[in-house]
Amino acid sequence: MNGTRLDRWTRRISPLVYLSNNWISRVGVALVSAAGVFWIFLIPSYLSGHAGSAYIGIVLFLALPSCFFLGLGLIPAGIYLRRRGLKKRGKPEHDGLPVLSWDNPDFRRLANFVGLVTMANIVMGANLSYRAVEHMDGVQFCGATCHTVMRPEYTAYQNSPHFRVECVKCHIGPGASWFVKSKLSGVSQVFHVAMGTYDRPVPTPIVDLRPARETCEACHWPDKYGGDKLRVITHFSDEGARTKTVLLMRIGGGSLSGAGIHTAHIGQGIRVRYAHSDNKRQTIPWVEYRRNGDVREFLAAKVNKGDISRMPVREMDCVDCHNRPSHTFEPPERALENAMARGEIAWDLPRIKKTALDILKKEYGGAREAEAEIGSAFEKFYRQQMPEVYGKRQPDIARSARGVLAVWQRNVFPEMKVTWGTYANNIGHNDYPGCFRCHDGEHKTADGARSIEQDCNTCHVMLAMEEASPKILQDLGVAEASPPSGSQ
Ligand code: HEC
Ligand code: HEC
Ligand code: HEC
Ligand code: HEC
Ligand code: HEC
Repeated sequence: MNGTRLDRWTRRISPLVYLSNNWISRVGVALVSAAGVFWIFLIPSYLSGHAGSAYIGIVLFLALPSCFFLGLGLIPAGIYLRRRGLKKRGKPEHDGLPVLSWDNPDFRRLANFVGLVTMANIVMGANLSYRAVEHMDGVQFCGATCHTVMRPEYTAYQNSPHFRVECVKCHIGPGASWFVKSKLSGVSQVFHVAMGTYDRPVPTPIVDLRPARETCEACHWPDKYGGDKLRVITHFSDEGARTKTVLLMRIGGGSLSGAGIHTAHIGQGIRVRYAHSDNKRQTIPWVEYRRNGDVREFLAAKVNKGDISRMPVREMDCVDCHNRPSHTFEPPERALENAMARGEIAWDLPRIKKTALDILKKEYGGAREAEAEIGSAFEKFYRQQMPEVYGKRQPDIARSARGVLAVWQRNVFPEMKVTWGTYANNIGHNDYPGCFRCHDGEHKTADGARSIEQDCNTCHVMLAMEEASPKILQDLGVAEASPPSGSQ
């Protein structure tokens, strides 16, 4: 390089080196270096696009750049302040400055400082960014970091068949574009959580949820989850009898021809679109059914075609039926019966169902109040109203009291305004409209010749309906010879 040009360059830069020897600029240098190094360590996990890196984006595109630019701003700010300070004290700022060489102590100090900080950042960055990625991939981060906000979903999730599936596998899925989209909405969510301005309960459906076929089908191939499946549902009468309902669910495969629930809506060449008049998608006045070239339109009774054109239209996918694959909140009676069927509550205690339901349906101010009241109200009932039963079955009553409280804790979250029925489940039709949003026999083609089927054997074959010991289960050899008591 040309010697004189180098001289000129160092002469110009040396006042900066001299002036930047102040703590504000140093903090700036440290920030810039830290942000830069961490960024370089994190970018590979981001580019690899693996779905888990959900929140890395927030760090990569929000937190680190903020640090970087803050640092970048601090360097000249420090220089400016130092220069002003020197001027005030009447010190010359240029003259007599040593040239920029290793003999210059200012330069040496700056170079050492930058070197040390960068080394330290590399050591920390290599360790921390790996841990951070691991952490932010985790269910803990999604479910527990925003503790109150996500508590209902996280609690339900822990009791779901997807307990081993990370949140981001359904909420973001593979690939870069949805990842970036989720980052953008993630930023405003983080902001709302920080400010406490989020909606209670978290609104559902999630309007811009990724089309489910791109997420669910990473694990579930609808062709595979097909065929007929036996489903046994346990019920308990108010008198304390245990019964079974047995349904043969005609699930069908995604591309198989013939009948079946999956085949009918997501089979090959099939597209179902619908208009909904409410934002919960519970009222569906118009349905369009395409099968290869064939198009059918179904209109609910007493609906004006003109009104339909103003409603949002959605293409049906997995979550129009499976809208609670991982966050199932049950209505009180079903929740109670399921806990009784699992033996968490002794179902053969007299008057158990009504007693427990009354307690569950009461309103409690918060989780703490419920904890204090539910168990003791339950025990008190047996102690006062049925002292004989209480005397004989105290351990069962204590265990059941805990079971009733657990049912409440899994389904009601006053701090998020989530209570019985807040989140409808679209599978089935007994607890919520579900399938009958369309399959009510009232959605008809224009000529009235065809309706969306409500025949009771379209979706399932009813093999037994609330029977004490259904013959079909005996024939299959799965009926218990004599029902065990609810005590364990
Ligand atoms: C098996 C897939 C799956 C997994 C795993 C999953 N979710 Fe969801 N989540 C969904 C679906 C589907 C919805 C409802 C979408 C709709 O109705 O639009 C939902 C809805 C939500 C909602 C909106 C409120 C509501 O209840 O509808 C929140 C918040 C949420 N999930 C958080 C989480 C958290 C936190 C985790 C991990 C602990 C998680 N999810 C794991 C599929 C999943
Ligand atoms: C990362 C993999 C993965 C993803 C993504 C996933 N699931 Fe699952 N799903 C599973 C596993 C594992 C099970 C449990 C299988 C078992 O226990 O037999 C399961 C079970 C189920 C079941 C059966 C539940 C039951 O009670 O037997 C349904 C229905 C289901 N998933 C629907 C969905 C839907 C809808 C989505 C998308 C919103 C989805 N899954 C996304 C892995 C996944
Ligand atoms: C029209 C509603 C509907 C749609 C759309 C739908 N399912 Fe299902 N699915 C059901 C019903 C109903 C069942 C049976 C539930 C039961 O056993 O009670 C079921 C069962 C399942 C099961 C469990 C099968 C088994 O053998 O236990 C899985 C897994 C599943 N669905 C995944 C999916 C996926 C993935 C999609 C989207 C590609 C999808 N479903 C779309 C209604 C639907
Ligand atoms: C958005 C409206 C809509 C919803 C919700 C819906 N379906 Fe359907 N379903 C249809 C339409 C439309 C058809 C085709 C009707 C026709 O062509 O006759 C259909 C057809 C079917 C068929 C085939 C019927 C036959 O005659 O072979 C089955 C089985 C079925 N649905 C089951 C279900 C189940 C189970 C659910 C709930 C988990 C459900 N559907 C929810 C719109 C819907
Ligand atoms: C469009 C499909 C469809 C039609 C039509 C249909 N069902 Fe169902 N039914 C379902 C599904 C899906 C379930 C839920 C199974 C589950 O809980 O996963 C169900 C569950 C049930 C249950 C069990 C509820 C429980 O908790 O014990 C009964 C009983 C039942 N149906 C009766 C009927 C009767 C009676 C008819 C005729 C009026 C009918 N169904 C028509 C789809 C249908």
